[in-house]
Amino acid sequence: MWSTARHVAPGDLVIVWLTRDLVQSLVVTPGKAFNSRYGEYPHSDLVGIPYGSKVPSRTGRGFVHILRPTPELWTLALPHRTQILYLADIAFITSWLYIRPGAVVLEAGTGSGSFTHSIARTVGPTGHVYSYEFHEARAGKAAEEFARHGLSDIVTLAHRNVCKSGFTEADIADSVFLDLPAPWEAIGHSKAALRKDRLTRICCFSPCIEQVLRTVSALNDAGFTDITMYETLLRPHEVIQAPRLATVGTVAEKLKRQERNREDKRQRQIAASRARRDATEKRKREDQDVVDPDPDGHELELKKMKTTAQCDDEAYAPDVTMGTDEEVLEDQPSAVTVAADDTTLAMPLPESAPEIQVLSRHSKEVRGHTSFLTFACLLPAVRS
Ligand SMILES: C[S@@+](CC[C@H](N)C(=O)[O-])C[C@H]1O[C@@H](n2cnc3c(N)ncnc32)[C@H](O)[C@@H]1O
Repeated sequence: MWSTARHVAPGDLVIVWLTRDLVQSLVVTPGKAFNSRYGEYPHSDLVGIPYGSKVPSRTGRGFVHILRPTPELWTLALPHRTQILYLADIAFITSWLYIRPGAVVLEAGTGSGSFTHSIARTVGPTGHVYSYEFHEARAGKAAEEFARHGLSDIVTLAHRNVCKSGFTEADIADSVFLDLPAPWEAIGHSKAALRKDRLTRICCFSPCIEQVLRTVSALNDAGFTDITMYETLLRPHEVIQAPRLATVGTVAEKLKRQERNREDKRQRQIAASRARRDATEKRKREDQDVVDPDPDGHELELKKMKTTAQCDDEAYAPDVTMGTDEEVLEDQPSAVTVAADDTTLAMPLPESAPEIQVLSRHSKEVRGHTSFLTFACLLPAVRS
């Protein structure tokens, strides 16, 4: 599986990366085709391309990336036969169990083989993984996959109920990993399988706290030490392209412009109000100066009509006709106070700044609880 070939060949297992949430595997078989909602990808199109290539569909409406398999990608692409372990837990367990090249690890149950693939790579050809599965069909399928992925020399798979019958190996393991519904039933058998000449470790993976409590009791009873429990949560980041954010300088410039416009409007209103007031006073003065030039009232009637018409016009005059005090207008708050100093305000936007910027942000979807990880150590036996 861990081929280092640069180009895809017929018969290769490849990972097809459609989207971040849709990753599949296929064995390249010329004559067959892979279909997605964006079109068809004949396997023959994949033969000879470098791993990592972006491949268009035959319709040209879609594309996929063809990747070389790794345990991490296999975990995303594998056919689920059970719940599986994901990278955050696998990495944490690998670290806490000190799984390293040359280590011997016992695992039960095999399930879909997600954990097995990762630790098989870690222990490598100088180490070994003994994996146990009591579901016959699952055991058969996992054995097939291990063989197809070239792991047969590193992984030995046994169809067995470890709670009832224990492990096939004794006094051999550097660490034991239990992903079972009742791990406490396999603690005694695990102790028998762990080597006694050095410090060894165990991890039990359980979704419920009640299972953790029973496991902790069993570990204590069996003489394990340093019992501790963790829960790992994954908080992925995603890279996005977003419109460039305005700089402080741009925002301050905008606020200043708004303030200037508001002040201009206020001055115009004051001027209009003054003009109306002057006109009214002038009319009053003119009325007082006239000495009955119209004894029969015709001219007066005409003037009244004109004044009414003028008032009607004023009704359409812009804004602030009531009161017409300059003071009232001048008391209005001057709306915006720009806190930034002049240097900041004057800061020019770089001409070359791109309109789109690349940012990293937390993905909205944070993978929640999978299981609790209970770790413990077994000290070497004291020889007398
Ligand atoms: C959750 S799955 C393991 C998933 C696996 N860790 C992975 O990453 O793909 C649990 C498996 O344990 C198996 N199992 C349950 N009890 C068992 C037992 N007593 N002995 C062996 N296997 C057992 C189940 O059949 C199941 O396939």
